[in-house]
Amino acid sequence: MEKPFHRRDLLGIRGLSAEEIIGILDTAENFREISAREIKKVPTLRGKTIINLFFEASTRTRTSFELAAKRLSADAVNISVSTSSVSKGETLIDTALTLDAMSPDCIVVRHSSAGVPHQLAKISKAAVVNAGDGTNEHPTQALLDAMTIREHKKEFAGLKVAILGDILHSRVARSNIHLLTKLGATVKVAGPKTLVPRSFEGLVDEGLTVSEHLDEAIVDADVVMILRIQKERQDSAFFPTLSEYAVHYGLTQERLELAKKDAIVLHPGPMNRGIEIASDVADSARSQILDQVKYGVAVRMAVLYLATGGR
Ligand code: CP
Repeated sequence: MEKPFHRRDLLGIRGLSAEEIIGILDTAENFREISAREIKKVPTLRGKTIINLFFEASTRTRTSFELAAKRLSADAVNISVSTSSVSKGETLIDTALTLDAMSPDCIVVRHSSAGVPHQLAKISKAAVVNAGDGTNEHPTQALLDAMTIREHKKEFAGLKVAILGDILHSRVARSNIHLLTKLGATVKVAGPKTLVPRSFEGLVDEGLTVSEHLDEAIVDADVVMILRIQKERQDSAFFPTLSEYAVHYGLTQERLELAKKDAIVLHPGPMNRGIEIASDVADSARSQILDQVKYGVAVRMAVLYLATGGR
């Protein structure tokens, strides 16, 4: 397998080229069938060590990085911050240096502060992969979203993607905006004025529009990506009540009718059913939410393989 990605770290989508993104997706396609085998294991990363260092809660990302490492025969170690020496006051830098002294090949990190993976990458000998840093980026989520979109739509050029909801606090939105516009898609972001800042228009040179009208963004969309209300990042009231939010900004079957007939629905999870997404939409044939989770394993296998210099 030719290596399409020559960096040590994966810190964000922003700095990647379209060729690098396609290279990672193609590598993930090669790994996809391993998860469908009866024996879901290949020796590709035997002898490599991966540390999952999660300072924030996670189900999908942490589990799929662990499964990805194990399916490639790497040794995977999960560090839960609540039972680590971070709870005794050890600093982030000391924690990183301590882990680095044990010679891992890759550290996968999630943190509530933007820029933590970048800080770690400066001091660590191991490759660093960003599993979500504050409101900044979540690169592997955007890559698995792209893999799901490519499965259904084949090409990105000319595709209309609506990203809806709590854009302000969403690292998923930022990574997806970078990825999708680099690959030639048109992105419309929409949500309540307080959660969709106009400043987002400056995020990329072209291909992005910002609106406070959900329906406007959904009209004619090929892909509708609805985002979670991130209550944990909201230190003030951005909308009156959750029930009002559901009425004005929730994705319902009625709203979805405005999209193309073959439009697919994505949600990065975890979902707030009945708030940003109606249950019947989440469980409909258009919903690809569980496929996103499935492709997450293949994408993370590809990222670990490329970051650890796998051949
Ligand atoms: N999408 C996502 O990052 O989910 P988790 O928080 O469960 O990892």
